[in-house]
Amino acid sequence: MAFDIDMIKKVYSELPDRIAKARAVTGTPLTLAEKVLYAHLHSDQPLKKFQRAHDYVNFAPDRVAMQDATAQMALLQFMQAGRPKVAVPSTVHCDHLIIAKEGAAKDLAFAKEESKEVYDFLGSVSNKYGIGFWRPGAGIIHQVVLENYAFPGGMMIGTDSHTVNAGGLGMIAIGVGGADACDVMAGLPWELKWPKLIGVKLTGKLSGWSAPKDIILKVAGILTVKGGTGAIVEYFGEGAQSISCTGKGTICNMGAEIGATNSTFGYDDSMGRYLRATGRTEVADVADSIKEHLTGDPEVYADPEKYFDQVIEINLSELEPHLNGPFTPDLATPVSKMKEVADAQGWPERVEVGLIGSCTNSSYEDLSRAVSLAKQVSEKNLKAKSEFLINPGSEQIRFTVERDGILDVFESIGAKILTNACGPCIGMWDRVGAEKKEKNTIVHSFNRNFAKRADGNPNTFAFVASPELVTAIAIAGDLTFNPMTDYLINEAGEKVKLDPPTGDELPTKGFDVEDPGYQAPAEDGSGIQIQVSPDSKRLQLLSPFLEWEGTDLKGLKLLIKAKGKCTTDHISMAGPWLKFRGHLDNISNNMLIGAVNYFNEKTDSVKNQLTGEYGPVPATQRAYKAAGIGTIVVGDENYGEGSSREHAAMEPRHLGVRAIIAKSFARIHETNLKKQGMLGLTFQDKNDYDKIQEDDVIDILGLTTFTPEKPLTIVLHHADGTTEQFDVNHTYNEQQIEWFKHGAALNIIRKSFEQ
Ligand code: F3S
Repeated sequence: MAFDIDMIKKVYSELPDRIAKARAVTGTPLTLAEKVLYAHLHSDQPLKKFQRAHDYVNFAPDRVAMQDATAQMALLQFMQAGRPKVAVPSTVHCDHLIIAKEGAAKDLAFAKEESKEVYDFLGSVSNKYGIGFWRPGAGIIHQVVLENYAFPGGMMIGTDSHTVNAGGLGMIAIGVGGADACDVMAGLPWELKWPKLIGVKLTGKLSGWSAPKDIILKVAGILTVKGGTGAIVEYFGEGAQSISCTGKGTICNMGAEIGATNSTFGYDDSMGRYLRATGRTEVADVADSIKEHLTGDPEVYADPEKYFDQVIEINLSELEPHLNGPFTPDLATPVSKMKEVADAQGWPERVEVGLIGSCTNSSYEDLSRAVSLAKQVSEKNLKAKSEFLINPGSEQIRFTVERDGILDVFESIGAKILTNACGPCIGMWDRVGAEKKEKNTIVHSFNRNFAKRADGNPNTFAFVASPELVTAIAIAGDLTFNPMTDYLINEAGEKVKLDPPTGDELPTKGFDVEDPGYQAPAEDGSGIQIQVSPDSKRLQLLSPFLEWEGTDLKGLKLLIKAKGKCTTDHISMAGPWLKFRGHLDNISNNMLIGAVNYFNEKTDSVKNQLTGEYGPVPATQRAYKAAGIGTIVVGDENYGEGSSREHAAMEPRHLGVRAIIAKSFARIHETNLKKQGMLGLTFQDKNDYDKIQEDDVIDILGLTTFTPEKPLTIVLHHADGTTEQFDVNHTYNEQQIEWFKHGAALNIIRKSFEQ
């Protein structure tokens, strides 16, 4: 699990010069985010002053991390790229596929059996291509990355939206789709729109019941779930330096909940302490030697309004603990107001379960502070009123807190220790009785609390809080309990008050672990054969998509004209389909089943023009494919918003859809379509959406002279014999047109390697 000190030293050796050049070209002092971005420009990217929220820029990230649900498609694509090894250090983490039910030992054993085929595949592909492999039970991707790989001033991408967690160690770390990960692993540049910058100035110091989590809960309340879109959030000020490194990780983790591209902190002593405690003294030493380059320029922090697009100031000394929710992470309520708000809203106030841990909040500090409250249960003759679940972030954390007696105390109040994995945080919680869909409240220290996210029950009201507050509320069993002012009645009928939490930032005896669960890749993996059974239901090797036939596309049928919101969840649903993420043909059976058909307002019911009958979207599309007929999908505004999963682009491509024509696209999805060799076109006149009729036969003209910024033409042949014609726009550049012509970006990567 070596952290690749040579790579880090190389990055640091180049950093000062690259930053100096960036300062010269921009003519201004730089924020930390700008320094890291400029220092990671790809060699093919000319240096200039980039325009925020406008310029697309090519980067060369230092690392790639993948979790098991998304790694399957990323690696299946990488296998097609024809490279013998990954170009940058990369890791796979088995954390998403483990169902939480009975507790760690049984749940892990069940997952290893149930997903054996997937784990074996991921393990052997990793072994072959030089990728570090973290086995099921080793921990959650972001915690393991923070403990082992993140480094100040570095840049990484990861196939999970909470990759941003590594900002806690001063990284620019960004969540992407598997196709992007594949590109970077193949040594290609990675493109990102130059972000806007939001500065958060932290003054004062946290104390008592307030925790780092409360900072991001407060920020989420201010910025809302959309406020960070397209931006990097940079925290600074004396308050920032007073927070532990893992506390910084929590704050950056939940930057995903405000839509931020990334959040980050300048290098400081807390990061140095954490690097040393996690066995990376060498990294701390080299970081110390260039520390002025690993934080924003002093002029920036002295006059932040001048350099950031938006500045928020929070005084930590006055910050109250918060509970955010239900159903959205930006509905922030200070603990002192919860009684009033919950009464007014009619939220269920009895708390059924308290959950702590996850990638967001399972540091040693988190658990040691939470356990200081659990200890008071016996000391004050109390009884915990709610169920209590803990999913440790890594085996290193779990082993260390077990050694230090922390787990024993939690178990003494009835806590169940789950596997070191995502579990309830990603809906992999087989919660007894959830199917009854009863209205109930849970409190957790995770990051997301959308409906159904934890247990699949749409009536579970989930509130996000610090691990300390979750523990106190679980002891009280009451959502409105304010530990700063309220008393509890103990088993002897006496009024008692909980003392504020205390804990250690890092274990005084150091971290320890017997088996971290890491498998290093083979030095030479060329002889390793990847076995995927042709009968597998969960894995399928990819075949290259066919090249463009060199002509205009004529005689296409309309598959569906989607009405209203059509997110990646509508296009490729998650939940039960998660298990088919490595099998393109099987997961294609969910293609567009959530999209609303404009013509009958139903989901998963479209007219098959060959038979005149209505049927499910995937089956109808398969019928067209079998008849050798291409189709188009028509979309409304912001088609493909939501997650970065490339399945939403690959499924239509696989089943023979030739183009998506929408009023507008979400950017990542539009890129994903292009990468998979699909046409993603937008109506020049949005009213042309109304011209599309259910029985239309459609031509796409202009492909033989497909060039950047030149519109293509759509001809509609209506069933009544009339035709209509209009132009559609596209945003394909020269390179992306080549992707289309070759059938997919990956086809070009493979060919370039074969030559
Ligand atoms: Fe896993 Fe939840 Fe984090 S799903 S990666 S623990 S956000």
